[in-house]
Amino acid sequence: MKDFKYYAPTEVVFGEESEEQVARLVKKYGGTKVLVHYGGQSALRSGLLDKVCSQLCEAGIAYVKLGGVVPNPRLSKAHEGIELCRKEGVDFILAVGGGSVIDSAKCIAYGVPYDGEVWDFYLGKAKAEKMLPLAVVLTIPAAGSEMSESSVITNEDGDVKLGYSNNLSRPKFAIMNPRRTFTLPPYQTAAGVTDMMMHTMERYFTKDDDMDLTTDLAEALLRRMKTAVFEVLKNPEDYRHRAQIMWGGSIAHWGLTGCGVSDDWATHELEHELSGMFDATHGAGLAAIWPSWARYVMHENLSRFVRFAVNVMDVPNDFTDPEGTALKGIEAMERFYHAIGMPINIKELIGKDITDEEIDEMVRKCSRNYTSTCGCLKVLQAEDMKAIYQMAR
Ligand code: NZQ
Ligand code: ZN
Repeated sequence: MKDFKYYAPTEVVFGEESEEQVARLVKKYGGTKVLVHYGGQSALRSGLLDKVCSQLCEAGIAYVKLGGVVPNPRLSKAHEGIELCRKEGVDFILAVGGGSVIDSAKCIAYGVPYDGEVWDFYLGKAKAEKMLPLAVVLTIPAAGSEMSESSVITNEDGDVKLGYSNNLSRPKFAIMNPRRTFTLPPYQTAAGVTDMMMHTMERYFTKDDDMDLTTDLAEALLRRMKTAVFEVLKNPEDYRHRAQIMWGGSIAHWGLTGCGVSDDWATHELEHELSGMFDATHGAGLAAIWPSWARYVMHENLSRFVRFAVNVMDVPNDFTDPEGTALKGIEAMERFYHAIGMPINIKELIGKDITDEEIDEMVRKCSRNYTSTCGCLKVLQAEDMKAIYQMAR
């Protein structure tokens, strides 16, 4: 069993009344001048942004606003935020939105006190020693960034999408009101569930499979998300199941489902090249890659794929044919993806055939110019990455 450290400092306030706590929590964590950071239209349309701002106002907390964060958040927006925060003397960032807004907020928070170029953190050239405190009012359960130590930013200069992880960036608090997610379109709902399930699966498909409690928790989470997503696709205003999904997104990524096991992340790394190149929705991109990754690596730990098939996908266990059972589990997952409107290959994701040149470019970027591997269950070299992209095309 792998030794582990567990760190989950984010204060969670969950439920219908949670938004009333914003100003009190900002004060509790020392914010006196706040950057309210948000995306396109959804938080404006729902009235959430106004609600948050009027609460800050009533509590006498000064703020400035910066919107316009797009899915697959861009480095240029973070630069704009860094400049604004310095000019306005901002000491706290409040992200109102989903993974993209939160990740943009994290990037700004790294950049404000740093003398160099913030992209250096994402390139692995520097390590952040301090950052502005930040917090979240979550509107889409998916990325898990509301409690995670990660952020993922796209540098438009070359369409390079890179993540940076640092425990400093775990939000101080996260406000989660499932009612706010009623307005999510079906595609975003399904992509979000796919992403959180994948955050669990990246830690589930491991060679260190002797931490039984972690495995049990992961399977319960995966089964619950599978059920809940159909309920909310049928009835978007189903509070009970929206709540399961909202909490599921956080549990899947703050580290609980990774205690005592090695994590893989190859599907994520292969996907980041897709959303970097084609501006695809991250969760949908994961669904396009995972079946091919799974078929490529399943012999590294066949019994785990059998267990997934039986315990998560309800495939009958054919004890005489473990490989057949494992493959049926992967096929069942493909049927699940289709049933919730997700793609199972790159063509379905981007709506056209991907070219050989585009695959070569993704392999080059994913392998950091052929100098780096990804994955852990099977360590993928550049030729493995290429084979998986070919299978997934
Ligand atoms: O911009 P607005 O108008 O707000 O619309 C957003 C956006 O178009 C919309 N939306 C959000 N809340 C809504 C809503 N629409 C209606 N009602 C609501 N309540 O949803 C769209 C997607 O939002 P986005 O924030 O992009 O989604 P998500 O949370 O899936 O974040 C995706 C990003 O997170 C990264 C991904 O790579 C991607 O860039 N990830 C971050 C991770 C982390 N920091 O730990 C881990 C993940 O693996 C992932 O890589
Ligand atoms: Zn993800």
